[in-house]
Amino acid sequence: MNNFSHYCPTRLVFGEGTIAHLERLVPESKRVLLTYGQGSIKRNGVYQQVMEALTRCEVFTFGGIEPNPQYATLLEAVAACREHRVELLLAVGGGSVLDGTKFVAAAHYFEGDDPWAILEGARVSRALPIGTVLTLPATGSESNPNAVISRDEIREKSHFGSELVIPEFAILDPSTTFSLDARQTANGIVDAFVHVLEQYVTYDVNTPLQDRQAEAILSTLVEEGPKALAHPHDYDARANVMWCATQALNGLLACGTVGDWATHMIGHELTALWGLDHARSLAVVLPGVWRHERARKRDKLMKMGARVWGIVDGDAETRVEATIERTVQFMHDLGVSTSPADYGIPPEGFVEVASRLAARGMRLGERGHLGRDEVVAILKLCA
Ligand code: NZQ
Ligand code: ZN
Repeated sequence: MNNFSHYCPTRLVFGEGTIAHLERLVPESKRVLLTYGQGSIKRNGVYQQVMEALTRCEVFTFGGIEPNPQYATLLEAVAACREHRVELLLAVGGGSVLDGTKFVAAAHYFEGDDPWAILEGARVSRALPIGTVLTLPATGSESNPNAVISRDEIREKSHFGSELVIPEFAILDPSTTFSLDARQTANGIVDAFVHVLEQYVTYDVNTPLQDRQAEAILSTLVEEGPKALAHPHDYDARANVMWCATQALNGLLACGTVGDWATHMIGHELTALWGLDHARSLAVVLPGVWRHERARKRDKLMKMGARVWGIVDGDAETRVEATIERTVQFMHDLGVSTSPADYGIPPEGFVEVASRLAARGMRLGERGHLGRDEVVAILKLCA
């Protein structure tokens, strides 16, 4: 097992009716900026619940944060923080609202000319405190240090991470997710599923506990995900999916293990260039990464195949192939296509994706051995 340091300070408040806990979680008379997306929280009653719980605070609002949150919009939120002398940011929504709010929290204290530098590696030395009410289980953003920000005018999608932007608390009320449509529900299941795979299907460093934790999340998503899709108001299914998604990327599975993340890095480029939903970009890329890396990932692919899919017959090659096919089938069963063509990605675009990653000096995969040529080869294997 590798050495690690795990820091997860977020208070998680889970269950139906827990938005009312905001009254206790947010100190009286705080100046709060409630950040949200494009209106789902007003349609499903979450906004009203939040406002009712915060009557003793001074609440300002900032709506309009887009899916794949846009830098220009977030700069307006930074200005709103200054104008209202905000003391706490309360992000209410999915990963995009949470990530965007993390950026606002860090940019608030940024001292240079252009806070985009944060996305290029500038150190975050201070941030506004953040609380969250999560309405879309997927990213794990509610209790992790990461944020992914998009800037369409330069076709970039970049991430930063800082312990200073880990939310202080996260309210996880599964009933807020009843209003998710099939597309977003499936996206969340696929994103959480791939977060686990990025940290599990690498190479073995003797971490049997972490492997079983990963398998537990994968198997639970396989069991509960389709129920949530088929029955959007099934509280237990929604609750189980929500808890899986939080666990999938709260840092626990990374403890002592080796991370891949090539699928995510390539996927972010697909979103920057062709606008795919984040989860769908992962569904496109993952099979290509696995096919390309099948020899190096063989042991973990076989372990996953056996323990999650029950694939135990045949020689190693047969089992690896069956594991890849079964995983692709799972995405298809959720209604998520894995074909680049279905998202309008032309084969001529593969080189551009690889070149953009190479231009940033990125070498991907758990061994850092995937450069420009390998990324092109991976994308060809996706098609
Ligand atoms: O904007 P509103 O109106 O709120 O609608 C949203 C949006 O249209 C809607 N939605 C959210 N909750 C809802 C709802 N609709 C009905 N009922 C509800 N309860 O869903 C749409 C998508 O929301 P979004 O926040 O974009 O989705 P998601 O949570 O999948 O977040 C995706 C973003 O997170 C980043 C992605 O790159 C992408 O930008 N990621 C963040 C990570 C992290 N912070 O650790 C890791 C991930 O790998 C990922 O990269
Ligand atoms: Zn993801």
